[in-house]
Amino acid sequence: MTYQDLKGKKVLVTGSSSGIGAATAVMFSRQGCFVGVHYFRTKRGGEKTLAQVKKNADGILLCADVRDKKQVAVMVKQFATKAGGIDILVNNAGSLIERQPFESATIKYHDDVFATNVRSVFLVTQAALPYLKNSSGSIVNIGSVAGHTGGGEGAGLYAAAKAAVATETIAMAKEFARYGIRVNSVLPGFIETRFHQRFSSAEQRRIAAQQTPLGRNGTAEDVAKAVLFLASEAAGFITGEYIAVNGGLYMRA
Ligand SMILES: NC(=O)c1ccc[n+]([C@@H]2O[C@H](COP(=O)([O-])OP(=O)(O)OC[C@H]3O[C@@H](n4cnc5c(N)ncnc54)[C@H](OP(=O)(O)O)[C@@H]3O)[C@@H](O)[C@H]2O)c1
Repeated sequence: MTYQDLKGKKVLVTGSSSGIGAATAVMFSRQGCFVGVHYFRTKRGGEKTLAQVKKNADGILLCADVRDKKQVAVMVKQFATKAGGIDILVNNAGSLIERQPFESATIKYHDDVFATNVRSVFLVTQAALPYLKNSSGSIVNIGSVAGHTGGGEGAGLYAAAKAAVATETIAMAKEFARYGIRVNSVLPGFIETRFHQRFSSAEQRRIAAQQTPLGRNGTAEDVAKAVLFLASEAAGFITGEYIAVNGGLYMRA
C-alpha cells in the first residue's frame, strides 16, 4: 500500500534495531521517507535496519538510552539537523525487561519498567516537540493491549506502564492539537518478535496463536501497517485514538 503524502517525510522511529520498530522503519522507507533508525544496546540490529532502509530511501543511525534526558536530547537534535526537521515520531522503544509478579517485584524493577516505557515517551516527545510544531506533524505511540487486560503472568507492572502510555497519548493529543499535531497509539497483541522469544516459552506462543480468532500470532509488519495508517493523511482527522492489532485475541465492545 502507498500513502502519497508520506513521501519525503522525516520519520524518527525509536527502538528500530529490532522487531516492530525495525519493520516500521523499513515500511516508512518504502514510502520514500527519510528515516531515523534508533538503537541502544543492539548496534548490529540498528545497522541491519539502516541497510534495509537504504535500499529504498535515505536514513541515519542514532544511539540513545531513551530513559536518559541528555542522550535523548542529543539523539533528537542529531536526527532533526540531518533530516531538516521532524514530521513523524514513532515512540516504539520499550520492554517488559523481565517477568516480575507484584508479590516479589522490586522497586528497582518498578522504576525501570516505567522509565523504559513511560519516561521514554515523555522525554522523546518533549525533545521532538519544537520540530513537530514546525511541521504540524504526527506522533504514534506503541502501547500494548496489556494496558487494557493487565498483562500476562509477571507482566502487571509493564501493563500498568503501558496503560500510562495510553493516557499520555490522549493527554498529548489534547495539548498538541493547538499545533496541528495528531497523537495516536497502536496496541499490539501477541506479536512474534525478540520480545516473546525472550519472555515467553514456545508453548506460551503456541497457545496464544491457538486462542487468537485469526489463528496466528501477529508479525511486526502487521503492527507497522497500522502505524503508517495513523501517521498518514488517511488518518488526518483522527487523534487521541488507538488501533489494537491482535488478531481478535482481545476484543471490546
Ligand atoms: N511483541 C509484542 O508482542 C508486543 C506486544 C505489545 C507491545 N509491544 C511493544 O512494542 C514495542 C516494540 O517491541 P518489540 O516486540 O519490537 O520488541 P524488541 O524486538 O525487543 O524491540 C525493542 C526495542 O526497544 C529498544 N529499547 C528497549 N529499551 C531501550 C532503552 N532503554 N533505550 C533505548 N531503546 C530501548 C530496543 O533497542 P536495543 O535492543 O538496541 O537496546 C529495541 O529496538 C515495545 O514498546 C513493546 O513494549 C510489543
